[in-house]
Amino acid sequence: VAHKHPKELELASNGVFGKFDRRQLQRGFQVYKEVCSACHSLRLVSFRDLQKIGYSEPEVKAIANQWVIEQPTINPETGEAATRKNIPSDRFPSPFANEVAARAANNNALPPDLSLITKAREEGTAYVHSLLTGYTDQPAALLKQFPDIKTPEGLYYNPYFANLNIAMPPPITADDQVAYADGTKATKEQMSADVSAFLTWTAEPNLESRHAVGVASILFILVFCGLAWGAYQNVWRDVK
Ligand code: HEM
Repeated sequence: VAHKHPKELELASNGVFGKFDRRQLQRGFQVYKEVCSACHSLRLVSFRDLQKIGYSEPEVKAIANQWVIEQPTINPETGEAATRKNIPSDRFPSPFANEVAARAANNNALPPDLSLITKAREEGTAYVHSLLTGYTDQPAALLKQFPDIKTPEGLYYNPYFANLNIAMPPPITADDQVAYADGTKATKEQMSADVSAFLTWTAEPNLESRHAVGVASILFILVFCGLAWGAYQNVWRDVK
């Protein structure tokens, strides 16, 4: 029994000339903040990185200061574990103190850090979108053929997940689960596409310059080919 191949996802950042849609990245961040951050960290992304997707410095300060999950630290007086408010240079923290606590809260599964998830999975951007919108009932015919794959208590059937039964409860469950700051209608499809775009940016914030360098290199090579051909014509001009 094989899992499904991800559905195609059209994003502005796709393709050789692709650029991020910053408004979409901000909406995706809003979904991460209001939904995913309850279980997943972004340990390679700091609050101040949000300035690259269009938030101002004071906005970043406020976002960090009001972040619900606080930063783990140690009380210098007692040596005990404690938390403090986030500052712009902090990374997006995990809500769980450690792996044991994370697994205890998630049916023994570990919510992975999402910083690089769109690179860690094949066709990661499309995969995240398919995974989020792909929860469904287990097909009766399939179950009849392979009774062993019946979704166990506490897991959820998702045909895009490699082993079909995932410990993550469906995170995006209703339209308008998030009230978008830019007024975009928050359908499930939209929220899922937006957070997939955001996680594409966290995994490769320099995608745009990579695309620009690629295009410039091809142009350079084309011009160079023209010059080389011209030089060849010139060198062999007198040879009959
Ligand atoms: C796993 C995304 C919200 C708990 C995952 C995976 C992704 C993901 C991409 C990895 C699947 C894989 O290994 O291929 C998201 C996004 C969320 C979100 C984008 C917000 C929209 C949540 C929430 C919880 C959660 C709110 C906790 C209630 C988990 C757990 C796993 C997981 C436990 C591990 C599943 C397993 O290995 O069976 N998530 N997640 N996630 N997530 Fe989430």
